[in-house]
Amino acid sequence: MKRLVAAAIAAAVLSSAAYADTIKVGVVGPFSGPFALQGKNFKAGIDAYFAINGNKVGDDEIEVIYRDVPQADPAQSKALAQELVVREGVQYLAGFYFTPDAMAATPLLEQANVPMVIMNAATSAIVTASPYVVRTSFTTWQTSSPIAKVAKDGGVTKVISVVSDYGPGIDAENAFKTAFEKEGGTVVEAIRMPLSTNDFSPIMQRVRDSGAEAIFAFLPSGPTTLGFVKAFNENGLKGAGIKFFGPGDFTQESDLPALGDAGLGLQTTFHYSVSHDSPENKTFVEAAAKAIGNPAELSFPSVGAFDGMYVISKMIEATGGEQDAEKAVEAVKGLSWTSPRGPVTIDPESRHITQNIYLREVVKDADGKYINKEVQTFEKQGDPGLAFVKK
Ligand code: PHB
Repeated sequence: MKRLVAAAIAAAVLSSAAYADTIKVGVVGPFSGPFALQGKNFKAGIDAYFAINGNKVGDDEIEVIYRDVPQADPAQSKALAQELVVREGVQYLAGFYFTPDAMAATPLLEQANVPMVIMNAATSAIVTASPYVVRTSFTTWQTSSPIAKVAKDGGVTKVISVVSDYGPGIDAENAFKTAFEKEGGTVVEAIRMPLSTNDFSPIMQRVRDSGAEAIFAFLPSGPTTLGFVKAFNENGLKGAGIKFFGPGDFTQESDLPALGDAGLGLQTTFHYSVSHDSPENKTFVEAAAKAIGNPAELSFPSVGAFDGMYVISKMIEATGGEQDAEKAVEAVKGLSWTSPRGPVTIDPESRHITQNIYLREVVKDADGKYINKEVQTFEKQGDPGLAFVKK
């Protein structure tokens, strides 16, 4: 009798375990070092998602396990992704701030039966590296193409391009050049800087010597984007009337106080502004500000993470918590929802997010806070970079 009861209890525990699983999600990002604030924004976005929606899908509970890759380091990223899959048993990989870190982990996905939801890395080609990659952030093609039209409409015809010499920088250079030439403009010189560059004075001299009316630039958002804009101002380029065009990586909200009045008037194109005016964003910012602790630290990686967690929850719902990467990815192809950034869709073919790109201008709001004020909308932008990848 005793044994029968024990067996019944064991069976009950087993069957309840089958109905109420813990679904583990491994998130790789920079949580220490110079880019720690970007990782902190991943976590704030994920925590905001749980604060608003709870961390359960049906009876299954989501558990997030974080791993720190402080700077772009593909070998470390791959090793940690592998450890998450093999030792921790994660069913989903997510996060990935830097392109090389995302790329390095893609070979694991099919063999481990694990989808990857990219919350930042922005090189177009990543989605082509594996059918199990879905992206909820942006690409630099998506964000850098519209600014070319803004430059031309502003009467600029000669531009010098300056980018970090790696995936998203090269994509940004190609995107701007393609769109600007279509508008009848000319890129007079294209400079690619090593990712490690942090003294920008020599570059600013080359910009001056080039005779260009404006600079187009891309660097990964972090301490160096702030340094780059400061160098642009302090080396007298702004004073000389040279215009600055770039995607919004340069004016993330957490950097605006440090730029101060020197940042006023900066025009950038991007998918998300913390000041975006919508009920969905109001709810999000309230929760994410609470999660991050200091609301002034909130910026774009938080929304990629928030939407990424929504996509993962839809995948868990579709698979009933079972590990089935193909079914999970299939379920979110064509998924549309209203993100804090505006209306979005996971493009069923590319698995990349279609979204509005906004032209924003740095202004002071009524409370004296520096914000990216949205002034124009480029609606429903897909990723023009994918056609370029296929060529
Ligand atoms: C990337 O490595 O893909 C990346 C990183 C930071 C950004 C944009 C793209 O701001």
